[in-house]
Amino acid sequence: MGSDTDTAIKAIEWRGDHLRILDQTYLPNREVYSDIEDVGRIWEAIKKLRVRGAPAIGIAAAYGFYLGIKELPESTFESFWVEVERIAEYLETARPTAVNLHWALSRLKSTIQAHKDKDISEIKEIVLKTAKTIHDEDKRINKKIGENGLELVKKKSNILTHCNTGSLATGQYGTALSVIFHAHQAAKDIHVWVDETRPLLQGARLTSWELMNAEIPMKLITDSMAGSLMQQGKVDLIIVGADRVAANGDTANKIGTYPLAVLAKENDVPFYVAVPLSTIDMELESGDKIPIEEREGDEIASFNGSQVAPDKVETYNPAFDVTPHKYITGFITERGIIKPDFKEEFEKLFTD
Ligand code: MRU
Repeated sequence: MGSDTDTAIKAIEWRGDHLRILDQTYLPNREVYSDIEDVGRIWEAIKKLRVRGAPAIGIAAAYGFYLGIKELPESTFESFWVEVERIAEYLETARPTAVNLHWALSRLKSTIQAHKDKDISEIKEIVLKTAKTIHDEDKRINKKIGENGLELVKKKSNILTHCNTGSLATGQYGTALSVIFHAHQAAKDIHVWVDETRPLLQGARLTSWELMNAEIPMKLITDSMAGSLMQQGKVDLIIVGADRVAANGDTANKIGTYPLAVLAKENDVPFYVAVPLSTIDMELESGDKIPIEEREGDEIASFNGSQVAPDKVETYNPAFDVTPHKYITGFITERGIIKPDFKEEFEKLFTD
């Protein structure tokens, strides 16, 4: 996308021997970059949402995995492999819902197995190369998602999105936001409604920031306003991302996605999910099997660092919800737009 401002965002950057991340917990007020040299700090960065969004979590974990295995002794493959599995398991505990984390680590472990006859020092270099490939592939895939989604965006559309799915959440461009960036570039005269996305405000803090940097017309709304806007005919299209899609199309995404999808159906608004194939988990038959991350209660008992609920209030804070596939109009992927029957169509994609 040429010289677009969104492409200038480098949320994750490998710098020769360490990872530099744009720490998203400070945005939009400050652009703070952190240089990370060990696997423990990558784990912490993923856990604390310094780096976040399913594809970006997978990429950061891949580099983190390399930083972990880089330190291992170069003796026998068997003892190396025991430690490799321990590091992968450790990284997987950072966040359970985004399947890209598991996907990236499985890919790296398979790569190691495929090269088990080589010297350990050589295997380590192959792992780094594969982590870079995962990163580069994600950029290309997201561009393709943006291009493939263009046909769904009519001129002068009002598009609603939830959470953050842009360059901050991926290798580059984003998923749902990639479609929005491409539509803007194609002069479709779009306007975006941005859900604030309680409790951690990824919409207000991050999506607004990315869209404003790219000079795309937008307005910020609270999550509870979306239904009323649909009822008034002010939303033409909804595009969101996903953290994990089950084999039947049921989709886990940021909490608040499910009510959007139900209201979209009620109000005849097309509801699309933009995902790379790495977010589709063919091992899970349906959405009820997707592990949902539960986070600390203080994220909802406080707002912008100030406590807003009584001391010791009991809370429940699931970070994601699952939208049943019947509410989803289609998936926008790097291989094109997938319409129901999702189970059948996904199976075709994964066997081709
Ligand atoms: O908790 P977060 O900020 O990591 O949640 C992110 C989302 O829910 C995104 O919609 C999803 O990961 C897709 S990002 C392309």
